[in-house]
Amino acid sequence: MSQKITAAITAIGGYVPEYRLTNAELEKIVDTNDEWIRTRTGISERRILKGEGKATSDLCVPAVLELCKKRNLDPMEIDCMIVATVTPDMFFPATANIVCDKVGAKKAWGFDMSAACSGFLYALTTGAMYIESGRFKKVVVVGSDKMSAIVDYTDRTTCIIFGDGAGAVLLEPNTEGYGVLDSILKSDGSGRSHLHMKAGGSWHPASNETVANKEHFIYQEGQAVFKFAVKGMADVSAELMERNNLKSEDIAWLVPHQANKRIIDATANRMGLSHDKVMINIQRYGNTTAATIPLCLWDWESQLKKGDNLVLAAFGGGFTWGATLVKWGY
Ligand code: UT7
Repeated sequence: MSQKITAAITAIGGYVPEYRLTNAELEKIVDTNDEWIRTRTGISERRILKGEGKATSDLCVPAVLELCKKRNLDPMEIDCMIVATVTPDMFFPATANIVCDKVGAKKAWGFDMSAACSGFLYALTTGAMYIESGRFKKVVVVGSDKMSAIVDYTDRTTCIIFGDGAGAVLLEPNTEGYGVLDSILKSDGSGRSHLHMKAGGSWHPASNETVANKEHFIYQEGQAVFKFAVKGMADVSAELMERNNLKSEDIAWLVPHQANKRIIDATANRMGLSHDKVMINIQRYGNTTAATIPLCLWDWESQLKKGDNLVLAAFGGGFTWGATLVKWGY
C-alpha cells in the first residue's frame, strides 16, 4: 500500500508596506476617534501600499521571494501558484500569472481564488489537494490584498478597518502526517447583499453613474456581517475540533482571520482556548482580507513547534467561511 501524502507547509513569507495609517491620522480624515476604533475593532494602525503603479502583485512578490530564499528554492521549481485576493491587479489576467512573471516562476501555472476573507483557506485547501493527489510537488499559496484600492476614505464605517498586505506559504508532499489534515469550507451566496462591491462586474459594468455613486468601493453592513461572522467562525471551528476528536488542550494555536477582535475572542471562547493560544495582530495591520491568516503565521513562525496543531479559521464576504487543521511540520 502506498503511503498517504499530506501537504506540509515548508516555508512562509510575508510582506506589509512601510506606510502606517494610524488612528490619529484617520481622526483627521473622517469623524472617528482612536478610542472608538480600538474598543470596537482592536485596530491601532494599518499598512498602506503607496506609490504610482503599485498593485496587489507587488505585495505578493516580496512574500514569495522570501519563502523561496528561506527554503533555498529556485522559483523555476514552483509548479503552481494560487493567489487568493479580491483586489486583483486587473480583472484578467489573473494576479497569479503576473506574480509568476515577476518572480521568475516560468514553469508554474496558476490562478486567482476569489473568496474574500476566507480566500486563503479556500486556496490552501485547493493547493493541498494538488499535493495530496501526487500531481504536484511545489505549490505556492498566497493571500494578498491591496484593500486601500477599494476603500472609500470618506466612509468611517469601512476606512478604519482595512489595510494592505500579503502572506505566502509553500506546500510540499509529506508522508509523516504533517501539514493540512482537514478543512471544513462553507459558502452562502445569499449573504452577498451585506458585503460586496456593487459595480464593475458584469452585473453593473463601470459607468459614469457607478463612479459618481461610489459603487466601486467596499460596501459593508457591519452589524449584519458581525452577527453571521461570530456564529459562523465559532461554529465551524467547533465542528472541525469535533470531527478530529480534538479537545482545547490538543490545540497549540488558533490562527483566526483578523476582522474584529471581538469576533476572534468569541471564537476562542467557544473553542475553550486561552488568550495566549490565539494569534492576534489586528492592532498592527487591520483587516488585510486574504492576507490576515498567512501574516499571522509569518509573525508567529519562530514560536511554532513541529507537531503543533493549528486551527485556521475565517469568515468573510460571500458569505464564505471555514476552518482548517494544520499539523506544523518544522
Ligand atoms: O472581514 C470580513 C468580514 N467582516 C467582518 O467580520 C466585520 C464585521 N463587523 C464589524 O466588525 C463591526 O460591525 C464594525 C467594526 C464594522 C462596526 O462596529 P459596530 O460595533 O457593529 O458598530 P455599529 O455599526 O453598530 O455602529 C455603532 C455606532 C453608530 O452610531 P449610533 O448610530 O449608535 O449613533 C455608528 O454610526 O458607532 C458609529 N460609528 C462610528 N463611530 C466612530 C461607526 N463607525 C464609526 C467610526 N468612528 N469609525
